[in-house]
Amino acid sequence: MMKPKILISRSWPDAVQQRLAACYDVTLNAADTPMTITQLRAAMAEYDAVCPTVSDKMPAEVLAAPGARVRIIANYGVGFEHIDLEAAKAAGIVVTNTPDVLTDTTAELAVLLMLMTSRRAGEGERELREGRWVGWRPTHLLGQSLAGKTLGLVGYGRIARATAMRAKAALGMRIAYYSRRRATDGDGATYYETLEGLAAASDVLSLHTPGGAETHHLVDAALLSRMKPTAILINTARGSVVNEVDLAQALTDGVIAGAGLDVYQGEPKVNPVLLAAPNTVLLPHLGSATLETRTAMGMRVADNLDAFFDGKPPHDRVA
Ligand code: DGY
Repeated sequence: MMKPKILISRSWPDAVQQRLAACYDVTLNAADTPMTITQLRAAMAEYDAVCPTVSDKMPAEVLAAPGARVRIIANYGVGFEHIDLEAAKAAGIVVTNTPDVLTDTTAELAVLLMLMTSRRAGEGERELREGRWVGWRPTHLLGQSLAGKTLGLVGYGRIARATAMRAKAALGMRIAYYSRRRATDGDGATYYETLEGLAAASDVLSLHTPGGAETHHLVDAALLSRMKPTAILINTARGSVVNEVDLAQALTDGVIAGAGLDVYQGEPKVNPVLLAAPNTVLLPHLGSATLETRTAMGMRVADNLDAFFDGKPPHDRVA
């Protein structure tokens, strides 16, 4: 029997590429260059499965390409707003993602950004590397402690809860959250019925919602104005959740004290207003970037493909 033909859109950890190559007729992307819409459209007619990542836009223009052979889009990543699910459904294409395996790693990064921003670590490192450090002094780069402060989580899913657990146990923070529904098992976290209420009560506001139309620019000038002037915003979710121009203005005007960001609206381009804003820690979408996690994500894609081509329902089907 012919092996299913699959396309891996970017370079993946070796262990996963080897597993896939053993079972499938795989096309790898050794150069690791992003694929264009034209290339993805052409791939729809050539492969049985396409495995994109967050950097590959899969709009209707790609998914509804005439003469499509692809039957499954097995996404490498938990977020799938770059894939038009309605268009996939209409074309009879199954879509899967990779939840769970990146929860702890992303929570670690949220905590890293909280610490780096509250302790002004980015500013300090830049100062030292640029030869501007003139020595220890009592009022140099004073940040703020997180112990006893309130971490407000926007969204209360897996990654938010894993972040809360770390912030509470390791940093001694109080936990609060806002989500559309109050959780039945809130783990002692305080529930806010409105996002505005949570924003006003939080010392650190951390975003854990999916991207997409519903959460587009949830954080804007109006919401930022509800926050404490000492507060910090953390975003490890999606860039589209924040109005970046409003955020940069709020940072410049001292409306809030700092921001730690891992995701951006126009990735990989970063809005210059953010680069110029004071007390920001800006990371290049590293939320899940450990070898263990990136390997586990790939294995999860492979599990989904195996189930699908074995005629079974893939575990992580989202469409
Ligand atoms: C995801 O999985 O959606 C992340 O953004 C990439 O780790």
